[in-house]
Amino acid sequence: MQSSVTVCLLLLVFPVNAHVVENFEMCMEYFYKGHVPEWTPNDHVHICQMFNNRYHFATLYDTTNRIPVYSAYVVEDGKSSDHRWMVEPQLVKQEFEEANMMTENSLIYKHRTLDPKDIGTRQATDDDYNKRPDGYSRGHLNPNSHHAGDASKATMTLTNIVPQKQSLNEKKWKDHEDTLKGWAKDNKENVYVLVGAIPSKGNWIKRDNQPGVNIPDYMWVAHCYYNKTSQSYESGGATAKNVENKIYKCTLSQLQAFLQQHNQVAAGQLFHNDCYVEQAAGASAAAENPCDI
Ligand SMILES: *[C@@H]1O[C@H](CO)[C@@H](O)[C@H](O)[C@H]1NC(C)=O
Repeated sequence: MQSSVTVCLLLLVFPVNAHVVENFEMCMEYFYKGHVPEWTPNDHVHICQMFNNRYHFATLYDTTNRIPVYSAYVVEDGKSSDHRWMVEPQLVKQEFEEANMMTENSLIYKHRTLDPKDIGTRQATDDDYNKRPDGYSRGHLNPNSHHAGDASKATMTLTNIVPQKQSLNEKKWKDHEDTLKGWAKDNKENVYVLVGAIPSKGNWIKRDNQPGVNIPDYMWVAHCYYNKTSQSYESGGATAKNVENKIYKCTLSQLQAFLQQHNQVAAGQLFHNDCYVEQAAGASAAAENPCDI
């Protein structure tokens, strides 16, 4: 009796809070109709991004390149909110009970025996980004401008960040983010987004002359939503080279072809049922692909 009470109490104190998780089961709502795109296997971990005891989006994270593969989220309206940069405690030690993302300082404060150096073993740290080359910024995959309050603060985890060319981040990429937000504002249905980066072969923010954080070659973004007014599905994709301030727009299937070419997605769909877009047989191969950059 005594022990079962203890077990119950322990369960109350430590709820099922795995946050670096086996799959995205606990944060499926950020994928259109719960469809998780199938990715080429690698050193990837699934993060259900938790802040202030709530999930806000999902990230597939590459622990070798120390950048996200993609973040999946739903665009929201409202005024964005800032926070100091955070990290993922369970990427430091899976057994850490902290389910919430937190700043490196709070993590060190909570775990006095933790060597601060260990924080960056499987993820990027603030120190890495402070050493980024000139002309690069902390580029959000899931942008804080697409959310308000806690959901916006939750985007301030470095597991959602890549070294992104500053001009691209502040101009053309931001313009595209604003477009997506405009659609979310107009639309009464959720706008689902998948946004990712493709790592480079040898371009790094270095740590003591060793590879630290990969500087990706490309960024990409895909969207899918149902337009209630026109009663039709709207979808599309875009790519950008992380060296120029330019964005290339295309269809979902063209984006998928680009990702396959770069060994990103395994065969399959980015969104449930390809966001209900009729696929003309062979059309994407025959036509010129604007996203193939
Ligand atoms: C939805 O469809 C209507 C009618 O075609 C169009 O005017 C509107 O711009 C569309 N909204 C979005 C968010 O795509």
